[in-house]
Amino acid sequence: MKKINVLGSLNMDLVTCVHMTPVVGETVLGNGFDKIPGGKGANQAATIGRLGGNVSMIGKVGRDDFGTQLTESLSKDHVDTKHVLKSDSAPTGTAIIMVNDSGDNSIVVIPGANFELSVHDISEQILEGDYLVAQLEVPLEIIEKSFKMAKGKGMTTVLNPAPAQGLPSSILENVDLLIPNETEFKLLTGCDPKNERMLDRGVRDLIALGTQKILITLGEHGAVLCDGTTKTYFKAQKVVPVDTTAAGDSFIGGLLFALSRGEAMDASIDFATLAAAITVTRKGAQSSLPTLAEVQERFGV
Ligand code: RIB
Repeated sequence: MKKINVLGSLNMDLVTCVHMTPVVGETVLGNGFDKIPGGKGANQAATIGRLGGNVSMIGKVGRDDFGTQLTESLSKDHVDTKHVLKSDSAPTGTAIIMVNDSGDNSIVVIPGANFELSVHDISEQILEGDYLVAQLEVPLEIIEKSFKMAKGKGMTTVLNPAPAQGLPSSILENVDLLIPNETEFKLLTGCDPKNERMLDRGVRDLIALGTQKILITLGEHGAVLCDGTTKTYFKAQKVVPVDTTAAGDSFIGGLLFALSRGEAMDASIDFATLAAAITVTRKGAQSSLPTLAEVQERFGV
């Protein structure tokens, strides 16, 4: 089993359910209120750990109850948390989440301690293992430094460019596998991945900047893996969504777990779609992630 480092955010998700997401100026009633461990980085690490992978989390929380709860929750999922640092000046990151009747969510992230992670916190010693995975809920300069270091050490780098934002070539040139969703791909390239010609153009542009492969997640339409020469489509499982929070995170965690135990890329993407399919049928971020036994029982793999 290869070792995976996840560099990213830890947030306490403050979640309510609404009939319909309110429009500007509207007040609606929420149904229930839950505090659920989340954060894109922590969700991806928790997926890998819960499935049985070898994973370590690199991030920062505040010296408060949320920070303690998030770290303990990751430990319970067998994630190594020795590189989850504590900020003296900022509270733990939080996310305010509304989930509507269709299972779609609206999220506001308050980064807090996630943005206190500094380039000085990252060293060659911390980045040990085979894979480095990151998202964009920590400062970009940290991703730039750590991806450069990881490539120098021969690690495989995976970037999930979420939440969507533009990226400098100094980051993209060190990315082995970029995993954007449709919105993120459009923002990075100006191209709609549902249009074949535009997809090819966007992929060409990203590859010209140094990224090796691009795996675009297309929600209920599955995913497409592109390397500039070939394009392979993968189907999503058909499920009735209850809450799509962390669907992308469990897809990425599932993918890395399968790759780390030696499965080929195509089989790993198929496995990732199964992990994500279970996640969307349950409420919350880390509360919805599957175990390996659940994936095997549900899909007979
Ligand atoms: O991807 C879902 C996650 O986005 C939530 O858990 C929330 O914390 C935000 O980071």
